[in-house]
Order: sequence, then C-alpha cells, then structure tokens
Amino acid sequence: MEGVTASAPGKCILFGEHAVVYGQPAVAVAIEQRISVRIEVLGSDSESWRIDGMQFNSNRHPHVQALRNRMWQPKQGAPNLSIQITGDIPPASGLGSSAALSVAASAALRTARGRWFNTQEGQQPTDWAEGYSSQLEPNGIYSLEDKEFDLFRKGPSGKAVRYVNGKEVLDLDESALLGHAVEAAAQGGRASPMDASTCAHGGIVLLSDKVEPDEEYLYSRHLKMPDGDRVWHLHCIELPPAHQEVFLVIGNTGIHAPTAHQVAKVALALEENPERKKEIETIGLIARRGIQSLKKGDYEAVGRAMSENQIMLQGLGVSCPELETLIRAAAPTSYGAKLTGAGGGGCMVALTSNPKQTSEAIELAGGRTLISRFGNVGLTVDDAGNLPLWATEQNTASQ
Ligand code: MEV
Repeated sequence: MEGVTASAPGKCILFGEHAVVYGQPAVAVAIEQRISVRIEVLGSDSESWRIDGMQFNSNRHPHVQALRNRMWQPKQGAPNLSIQITGDIPPASGLGSSAALSVAASAALRTARGRWFNTQEGQQPTDWAEGYSSQLEPNGIYSLEDKEFDLFRKGPSGKAVRYVNGKEVLDLDESALLGHAVEAAAQGGRASPMDASTCAHGGIVLLSDKVEPDEEYLYSRHLKMPDGDRVWHLHCIELPPAHQEVFLVIGNTGIHAPTAHQVAKVALALEENPERKKEIETIGLIARRGIQSLKKGDYEAVGRAMSENQIMLQGLGVSCPELETLIRAAAPTSYGAKLTGAGGGGCMVALTSNPKQTSEAIELAGGRTLISRFGNVGLTVDDAGNLPLWATEQNTASQ
C-alpha cells in the first residue's frame, strides 16, 4: 500500500532535566511506549494536509509544520499528505511524545522523499546532496524563523548523481537533528538534544559536557541560545548484566504542563538570581554520580541519586504537590523516585524491582501508571510501499 509508517519510543529522564539545557550531564532511557506516524499522499484535488482526518492546523502541530518547511515544501511541488498519529505515549506529560512524533515524522518524510547523493558509491553524509547531519554543520538547521529551508549541496561535478529512496536512506542522526531543531523552535530557543536523540537512538543516552572516553560516542550538538552557546556530547551507554531485573514505573499526574513554560520559568529564576547557577551545577554533579552507579549496576545508589536530584528540582520550583504525592507513594517499594521531564505536572518515575507493588502504590495515590524495562529500540521505519511519494522531475528522471 502506498505510504510510509515510522515509529519512535518515548523517553524517561533518569537524571539531569533542566540542568541539561545549561550544558550539565544527563541520562535518558527509551521507554516501551511508542508513537507511530503514517503518511499517505492525498488526491490532487485536496487543498491542504490532513492530520487524523482533520484539516492540518499549524498552530496545533508546530512540530509537523517545522518539518514540512524543511522537508516537504508545497512551493516546490510536494503533494499534500494525510498523516495518522497513533501510539501509547500520553501527550504533554514529560515522556517525549513531541520528540517521538518529530523524529518519527522526519523519518517517514525522508523515506518517502528519498535522498540524492553526490557520488555513485558513497552513503555517508558527506556524500549526500541533500539532508541534515551533525557531520555537515553549519547548515542553518536551528534557524528559528519560519522560513523555507532545505539543504542542497552540489557534488564535485556540480550535480547530484544518484537517487535512493526507501528505508535505506533513514539516518538516525538526521532525524535526531531535525527533532532537536523543531523542539528548540517550540521551546523558545532553549532545548537540549536529549529528547530527540533518545527517541531516535533508543537504549540509554548520556549527554555530557565532554566526550567520555569510555562510552560509545554518537556526535556533538551545538545550539545558540538567548543567553549563550551550548555544546552537548552525546553517547550511548550499556548496562552491565543485572543480578535482578529492574523496571521503571512511571506515574502520570494527568496535569499538562508545557515544557516551554517550565524551561522559561527556570531561565527567569536564573536571570533574576545568577547565584542559582550553583543548583544547576549540583544537579550535574548528582547526575555524574548516578551515571557511575548505573554503569556499575548499583541500583540502590542510582535510586539515591534520583531522590537527591528530585530535592534539587523541587528547590528549582519545577515540582508540584501532585508529583510529590506520587513520589512519596512510590518510595517504600522503590530504589528512588523523582519527576521526569519538565515537571510542573506530567510524570514521575520510580526505579524498582517490584513493579507491581510500586505501580499499585502510585495508582492508589491517584496516578496513572506505565511500566517499562530499560533498553528499548529507537526509531524504525515499519512500512514503506510504492515510493517515492513525492516524485519530483529530478528523481523520476533517474528511475
Ligand atoms: C524535557 O523533557 C527536558 C528538559 O530538560 C528540557 C530539555 O532538555 O530541552 C526540561
């Protein structure tokens, strides 16, 4: 069937939310819950895109709009699309639903559109004639203006020579980079790459202020923020074999708290009192300690670090009474618990070997729970038929 389906997991932050926006270390885990995006071409009589059967409204879907500007411009002749979004990540709850959506949508669009290469043989980003990659910066990808932008590089001969479409052209770095760019736009210019990279790569993702020699390095990201430039070095980390299974039990308060608002709140607190930067640095120190414990498989120490991290987040003003209630309820049966994501509502997470008991305690205290193991798969293209969906003159000529 003509169309592309891509899916990506949500994420749960173990350490370092908010502080990571200021360059401090942080760790996030891909969870079992996912979002799936299916795109299909609408008939030529359609006047606009449709999302879940409704007319596309760019205010309601700023992430999709930002991707459309970069990858599927109507002005260039791209056909109108119908998009179906399904999945089990609760929206606006700190579990990365918007990053998972962006990353999955960017993968679906790239797979549907295909990619031009500058060389016959190469597949590396440096051989691409179009696309986004951390190997190809600077490329204007983080521009916050809603302007049309797509990268088209000329090969040595002055033209793109080979066209490929389908799953083969999926690139996790590209989808994570686009996901970060659209998150940054939605968060007023302040966003770490943590959510987008975890949703793209899956597993466990570590962001650090330096390249960590003992970890698997992915790439570095740079972003100009209103108060200065930031750099993050991203890695994948592996857990040692555990003597006992551990689970993440996520408790949802049901309160929607937009990330942009929470991030702006912290920025204002720091602006008003620059001394509070020390709290951000302390979160970074706790995260570093927690990461070491995680790598040793010492879950009691991981849990203690999570609970200390929560105290700092409370101090920063991003927790709320409903989160505190769920965190207290989880404490007796877990190694540690804290809010996860931007706070102010949304979710908390407990690390536990007793998922059933912890989940029941959270539910009794009024939360809705999800249970997830560690190490879940990242972005995948699940179905791709009858490509390309956007047959430009250029790419059909090469078929
Ligand atoms: C949101 O999931 C995590 C924050 O740290 C924001 C960000 O990293 O961009 C609050």
